[in-house]
Amino acid sequence: MHSTTPQRAARSVAVVGFVALTLLGVRSDADTRDLGTHVVLSWNDLGMHCMNQDHAQISILPPYNDLVAQVILRGNATTLPQIVTDGVTLEYSIPGNTYSVGKTDFWDYAQDLFGVILPPNVGLTGRGLTGTFDALSGYFEADGIPITPFTDANPTVEDPYQQALVIARDAGGAELARVEPVIPVSTEVSCVSGGCHGSIQGILNQHEDEGGFNPNNTPILCAQCHGMTPLTGPNPGTAGYFSRRIHEKHDFLDQSMPGIAGCYKCHPGQNTSCLRGTMSTNFGLVCQDCHGNMHQVSDSIGNGRTPWIDEPACRTCHTATYGEPVGTLYRNAVGHGGVRCAACHDSPHAIAPSRVDRDNAKMIALQGHAGTLSDCTVCHGVVPSGAGPHGITSTAVVEGELLGGASKLATFPNPVRAGGLVRIRGTAESTDGGHLLVFDAAGRTIRKLEASVAGSRELTGAWDGRNARGESVAPGVYFVRWTRGEEKATGKVVVID
Ligand code: HEC
Ligand code: HEC
Ligand code: HEC
Ligand code: HEC
Ligand code: HEC
Ligand code: HEC
Repeated sequence: MHSTTPQRAARSVAVVGFVALTLLGVRSDADTRDLGTHVVLSWNDLGMHCMNQDHAQISILPPYNDLVAQVILRGNATTLPQIVTDGVTLEYSIPGNTYSVGKTDFWDYAQDLFGVILPPNVGLTGRGLTGTFDALSGYFEADGIPITPFTDANPTVEDPYQQALVIARDAGGAELARVEPVIPVSTEVSCVSGGCHGSIQGILNQHEDEGGFNPNNTPILCAQCHGMTPLTGPNPGTAGYFSRRIHEKHDFLDQSMPGIAGCYKCHPGQNTSCLRGTMSTNFGLVCQDCHGNMHQVSDSIGNGRTPWIDEPACRTCHTATYGEPVGTLYRNAVGHGGVRCAACHDSPHAIAPSRVDRDNAKMIALQGHAGTLSDCTVCHGVVPSGAGPHGITSTAVVEGELLGGASKLATFPNPVRAGGLVRIRGTAESTDGGHLLVFDAAGRTIRKLEASVAGSRELTGAWDGRNARGESVAPGVYFVRWTRGEEKATGKVVVID
């Protein structure tokens, strides 16, 4: 029970091999994907879960990870796709991570801390490291999976971005579809190891002697007196929300360690770097851009913000077309056709494409490239003629216009890694009055390139993956087009993370 089954090991090796091949471009073409009648989309609700490894003295957070999923019966030329929950069961496992007892001492203290007797490797909601999702309205959820960041093969080294295996089965037990979402977890809450506090006992001894606090009455669950929404519900507790107290107590970091480094002292962390989505990787956003600094996180609670419930919204920076409904958290919001925002964009803090290849693997498996789930055929089976998510029409329509009837421009390497140089080659009479242009998937013109024609009418050009403003473009599908009078030649480039 405590070891990986050969089948699981084989599968995870296969996954790693698959990703490598995909990144090399072997499977970058949509036509080579083999999606069946259904697709299953799955993600973690928060983008990261923190837990204590040791609970003997202090317990801030127990092992408790959530996966969410949607199953889609794919459409075809005459039928729209359908989100299904009836007649489907969804199971999860974490290949290579089959037990938690011993990787954390949580099970020794669960009864003292939470007043419950838990069987080994079973978490606070009664789930283990393998099990089935609950079918809810329009989606599935598996909450409280007690995973640790330690694999069976390497139980002392943290691996914060493990992949779960989620399989959808029909009523007869036959597999319909599978997906491998990252189930992120880290113990990098570095009170002592970060070099800030001498010892845990030291922290406890420093705590004010109020409200019945006794530093020797260990193990101490901070949430016993300080409200922590995930454990206590939205209620400040007898001693004020933990988030308010902890950020206020450490708000000197706003001066001594401003920026993401200060947040990474407690939120995982210098090694884990849990903020890994496109907005941080490609556009330099840090925690403070969305949440404010330590003082603001704390002070806003004093002014009525409920921690974990009143959080930043996409619509505060993006337009409402690209936002959640007011009052609904991103993690709970649905968009196009009832599909969850996170099904297409992934978890908060890991908005696709992610810095971490394992996050990108599921999107690559579905649509051949990393980034937002944008390929209509994944769900529709065909390219619908109407507008899709956020009113976006299909790339294929743009593709039809740009590629239709033109001769081919060769592009290589393709796919290209962001930041890499793409060489372009074709045939042309001369460059006089011609244009070599780059378009994005929505058909917008994003860059004019220099072209030259030499020798036997060989047209050459190069694109450095930047737009007209000099910024690196996001991973996705791009088109290059040469036109000069009646001459027209086009090519396609996939930029990957
Ligand atoms: C038995 C109740 C109780 C428990 C358990 C408890 N606290 Fe407190 N804590 C309090 C009270 C009461 C206050 C004072 C609140 C006030 O000032 O209104 C406080 C205040 C704090 C403050 C702010 C104090 C300051 O100096 O600014 C911090 C930080 C804090 N607690 C951290 C923790 C941590 C970490 C844990 C878990 C190890 C914890 N508390 C567990 C009762 C408790
Ligand atoms: C691009 C904006 C953005 C950045 C940057 C960002 N966050 Fe968030 N964060 C959000 C959003 C949006 C939510 C609410 C997501 C939800 O629950 O739907 C959130 C929620 C949270 C939560 C509550 C748990 C949860 O997911 O609901 C924590 C803790 C958090 N963020 C910490 C951080 C830390 C620490 C950093 C930097 C390392 C950071 N965030 C960077 C947007 C951001
Ligand atoms: C001294 C440790 C510490 C530092 C430094 C820290 N946090 Fe936190 N933070 C915590 C803990 C512990 C929690 C969990 C509290 C809870 O569960 O309610 C938390 C929870 C949060 C939450 C979710 C609860 C809420 O208030 O909505 C957000 C958002 C957050 N932190 C943002 C930040 C940002 C942004 C920074 C950097 C500017 C930061 N934190 C730095 C310890 C820290
Ligand atoms: C603090 C402001 C802020 C918040 C909040 C925010 N974003 Fe962004 N987002 C940006 C900025 C700035 C960019 C870069 C825009 C650019 O230069 O093209 C961006 C870009 C993006 C992109 C395009 C990335 C790419 O690779 O082209 C996506 C997708 C995105 N955000 C999704 C989200 C989602 C989903 C949320 C809510 C969970 C969110 N954003 C919340 C500021 C924000
Ligand atoms: C069916 C898939 C799908 C769903 C569901 C979806 N989106 Fe998008 N979203 C897209 C695509 C495709 C884009 C185009 C840009 C890209 O490829 O990243 C996009 C772009 C965005 C952007 C970036 C806009 C910019 O300025 O670059 C934001 C923000 C965003 N979506 C937020 C949301 C939110 C919030 C929800 C839920 C209410 C949601 N999306 C639901 C597919 C989806
Ligand atoms: C993640 C799955 C998914 C993706 C990707 C997706 N769709 Fe859909 N789409 C759906 C679902 C589910 C429905 C709802 C069907 C229903 O109403 O019964 C839908 C409905 C539609 C409809 C019918 C009108 C409506 O809004 O109800 C159109 C048109 C459409 N999609 C276009 C697109 C286009 C264009 C794209 C690609 C740019 C796209 N979709 C990508 C899942 C998806």
